[in-house]
Amino acid sequence: MSELHIIGQKPLSGSVRVSGAKNACLPIMAASILTEGPSIIRDTPQIADVETLMAILRMLGVDCDWIEPHQMRLEPVDKDQCVCPYELGNEMRASICVLGPLLARRGCAVVPKPGGCIIGDRPVDLHIKGLCALGAKIYTENGYIFASADRLIGTRIYLGGPHGSTVLGTENVMMAATLAEGTTVIEHAACEPEIQDLADFLNACGARIRGAGTHTIVIEGVKKLTGTVHTVIPDRIEAGTFAAAAAITSGDVILENVRPVHLGAVLDVLEQMGVSLSIEGAQMRVRREGSLRPVDFSALPYPGIPTDMQPQLLALLSLADGTSVVTDAVHPERFAHVAELNKMGAHIVRQGAQAIVRGPAHLSGASIAAQDLRGGAALILAALAAEGVTRLSGIEHVDRGYERIEWRLSALGTDIIRVGAPAESAASREQLRRAAS
Ligand code: EPZ
Repeated sequence: MSELHIIGQKPLSGSVRVSGAKNACLPIMAASILTEGPSIIRDTPQIADVETLMAILRMLGVDCDWIEPHQMRLEPVDKDQCVCPYELGNEMRASICVLGPLLARRGCAVVPKPGGCIIGDRPVDLHIKGLCALGAKIYTENGYIFASADRLIGTRIYLGGPHGSTVLGTENVMMAATLAEGTTVIEHAACEPEIQDLADFLNACGARIRGAGTHTIVIEGVKKLTGTVHTVIPDRIEAGTFAAAAAITSGDVILENVRPVHLGAVLDVLEQMGVSLSIEGAQMRVRREGSLRPVDFSALPYPGIPTDMQPQLLALLSLADGTSVVTDAVHPERFAHVAELNKMGAHIVRQGAQAIVRGPAHLSGASIAAQDLRGGAALILAALAAEGVTRLSGIEHVDRGYERIEWRLSALGTDIIRVGAPAESAASREQLRRAAS
């Protein structure tokens, strides 16, 4: 297992390029199952979740390899495979997004009930509801989802749930509907930009999707999809994370490859806190000179403040001059980072789906542990602001979603080193097994 050791209180400065979006490229990779012929995906982040999905896709008969840094080639070659291996699928929740494509293209799927970040209950009932509405037969047993479909027939499907819609559920149903007979209308679809990017990829492959990025998506089924070349949109969560890193260290950082229109709510809350932002095209300068103001916010479905930015903003608010109330309406349990932030001197109290943050805290370095991807990012931010050295374990969680995080922070002026070998992921174990066989 590896750790990051960080000496805090160094203002970040310089520029950093934002990677392609993890949560866009994962479903796009899965969508390659639907196509005939090769696809090339550009600006693909080289992170653990992408490696895990590459290993899963290889087991599902899709040739996928890096042809250049951040460029991946995928081509389905064996259409008889439809079982996703448990130890890989259980590594991350996004493995669920092979379900819709397998059903549509091969008529069968066996997928582990997804693992991933422990950020609260993560049901898949809406995925199952939507795919069954298209005509699939699905049951769950022994931690697996068993699905089959002789044919999928377009219909009207309502995908609203208790916490808004479902991102991966919308993507699963949308992907399955591309090869269904007739027209499918998804009502109360999730609107995240990553869904729009997936629809753009699928339409370039020959699908007929309208309304992605709104609450109503219309998909006219087609007979066949062929591969294409696609560049993944910038990662809005990584951009928000680096912006928060500049703010928490009173730094001055230029972010390259930003899509500001995807970050509206995050930029608004940063400006309310007193962070100054200047945007020119795909470049955003982030500076913080004075103190931070407290701000109450709720993490909501897009276009609201993303739940994937809640931990990072919570860490930033621990330094604000006053009290803030943070609510996560999407993942009400997503506060495992609170105890670790308090170990560093933050004053945060959990109250159900809310966290009350009293600032300004004086953060000091400590030995702490990341429990999940974005919580780990929040702990890195706190370490950047803390006096002294922080030893952060559980970095395998952060490596799932942030590429070469220590190198990029070091290039911005942070004193940071990785100690110990990166954890051996299921994907690398799988590759070793295949190499040995
Ligand atoms: C996606 O997960 C993202 N992951 C998550 O990012 C993100 O936190 C989440 O959307 C919300 O924005 C990827 O895109 C790979 P949901 P997803 O289904 O699709 C409830 C990260 O850090 N729900 O939109 O799995 C669920 O309990 C990750 O990059 C049901 O009730 O999330 C939750 O409260 C973490 N039934 C809410 O909907 C279902 O069938 C939103 O979940 C599915 C979900």
